[in-house]
Amino acid sequence: MPKIKVALVGVGNCASAFVQGLQYYSNYGKEEDSIGLRHLSLGGFHPRDIQIVAAFDIDGRKVGKDLSEAIFAEPNNAPKLFNVSSSNVNVCKGPTLDGVGEYTKNIVQISNQPETNVANILTECDVEIVLNLLPSGAVKASHWYAEQALSAECAFLNATPSFIASDPTWTKRFEKADLPLVGDDLIDQVGATALHKTLLKLLSMHGVRITETYQLDVGGGTESLDTLERTRDVKRTVKTKSVETALPYKADVVAGSMDYVDFLQNRRDSYFWIRGLYFCNVPMQIDLKLSTIDGPNAGSVLFDVIRAVKMALDRKLKGAVMPICAYGFKHPPQLIPLETAEEMFIDFITEKV
Ligand SMILES: NC(=O)c1ccc[n+]([C@@H]2O[C@H](COP(=O)([O-])OP(=O)(O)OC[C@H]3O[C@@H](n4cnc5c(N)ncnc54)[C@H](O)[C@@H]3O)[C@@H](O)[C@H]2O)c1
Repeated sequence: MPKIKVALVGVGNCASAFVQGLQYYSNYGKEEDSIGLRHLSLGGFHPRDIQIVAAFDIDGRKVGKDLSEAIFAEPNNAPKLFNVSSSNVNVCKGPTLDGVGEYTKNIVQISNQPETNVANILTECDVEIVLNLLPSGAVKASHWYAEQALSAECAFLNATPSFIASDPTWTKRFEKADLPLVGDDLIDQVGATALHKTLLKLLSMHGVRITETYQLDVGGGTESLDTLERTRDVKRTVKTKSVETALPYKADVVAGSMDYVDFLQNRRDSYFWIRGLYFCNVPMQIDLKLSTIDGPNAGSVLFDVIRAVKMALDRKLKGAVMPICAYGFKHPPQLIPLETAEEMFIDFITEKV
């Protein structure tokens, strides 16, 4: 198969797990052996067909380094699962814009190297897909990289919660440029929101009347600190709306409230509390804790979405590609129930639509 040429924007924890995963799964031959992946082969593409050909960051501990080294540089704290072979891709410096917030300014060390010409590098490296893994508060920087993707005629995959694929202005611009766009805010493989919705749905299907529920997250990656300062309210609105759709009636729902606990490193603890009434109005309650590590939680969905975007490019699709947005992202252009999104994605990758 031809390689899928990807540029990484932001070499943080998510990128670290993603790059390690590319090496980890490259030699897997059988679908049934590939623990941790939804699809070893998708659209005829194996994970080894994904090739990172360019990478951009601003931190002096990453810029100028081979990607295999940069992914383990501080302040990244995603687990190092094994050594990664040299990639021959050096991390280039991009503009900082709003990449660093008040809370992270003492954590990110901005490189003093000159900025590179991002659109030129994307063109020279034949990049097909720009993968946006910038901090969630870096809205201007995310928009700037979407502009670079348009200039260099690349598809854009927005894993961040900045609204791009769900913003009709951007969608129209990618449509006009004959390029696919997917986003926003990647869904985790073991996602707190998906788990919360599934639990509520199950209880409600069984006749339980949920009265109140909340979901609270604590994490220790740089991204959690940035979220605390700049995107907590947006994330809370997006997650609360999404969780509310799991119930056919109105209940008191709060989801996406969070805090930063530095010693957790890249780990995340999600707490769920659900109260409801069942037979004869007898009360029931659930208290639950889910522990995950953020970086690896994005890998499997990224593998699927990147290969699906390559299929969209091959099919000359343009603008927001709904089956991919609905399957892989928390804030697609339209909110679609989980099961419908799954069906749409399967139809898309099996070429039924
Ligand atoms: N499971 C997950 O990790 C997950 C799931 C869904 C969404 N996301 C989203 O993915 C994004 C990345 O998450 P992360 O944990 O890897 O974050 P991170 O903070 O570890 O990494 C961000 C990287 O971007 C770099 N950066 C900052 N400004 C920049 C700029 N202007 N140009 C280039 N690089 C810049 C930082 O130096 C850092 O290396 C976030 O927006 C997050 O919300 C992650």
